[in-house]
Amino acid sequence: MAQKKTTSNLNKTLVGSLLFLIVFFSNSLLAETELTTNDNIYTKTQAKSGETLYKDHCLLCHDKKYFRPVFKAWEGQSLGTFFLVMNASMPETNPGSLLTKEYIDIMAYMLSLNRYASGEKELSAKSEILNSISIEPRKR
Ligand code: HEC
Repeated sequence: MAQKKTTSNLNKTLVGSLLFLIVFFSNSLLAETELTTNDNIYTKTQAKSGETLYKDHCLLCHDKKYFRPVFKAWEGQSLGTFFLVMNASMPETNPGSLLTKEYIDIMAYMLSLNRYASGEKELSAKSEILNSISIEPRKR
């Protein structure tokens, strides 16, 4: 009996340490993949395409300056959430009417308007990627 008890206590300790290790390592993995809007997350080509789309579909109601305070208000939140809200509510007259890729390009244009630096890698439409990018104040 006493023997059994020791084994099960040992098992508990083992499970406990394993859980600790899993949580510890997944946290450090997350920390490594965490990106912000400062990490050159879109390309110039996407922003250029987004500019044309913006003129066709958004300029009617929003001038270029509109998106600065909007991004400020969204600081600390994920780009994925912002994307969902924009996708589901805009253009106001016909929400969700553009292609996913077109919304991504418009978002790239907004990033360029807010003077976040572009890079080599295209901004993906994958929600798990967008969700891992947080909107942060622009680094100077
Ligand atoms: C017919 C007018 C109209 C058009 C066209 C339009 N919007 Fe809007 N948009 C609004 C209104 C009204 C609001 C909400 C009021 C406000 O915050 O100014 C808004 C709010 C927003 C917001 C802020 C959302 C938030 O919760 O912070 C974003 C971003 C946005 N629009 C993007 C776009 C984009 C991108 C397009 C083009 C694809 C677009 N809008 C086209 C009227 C429009």
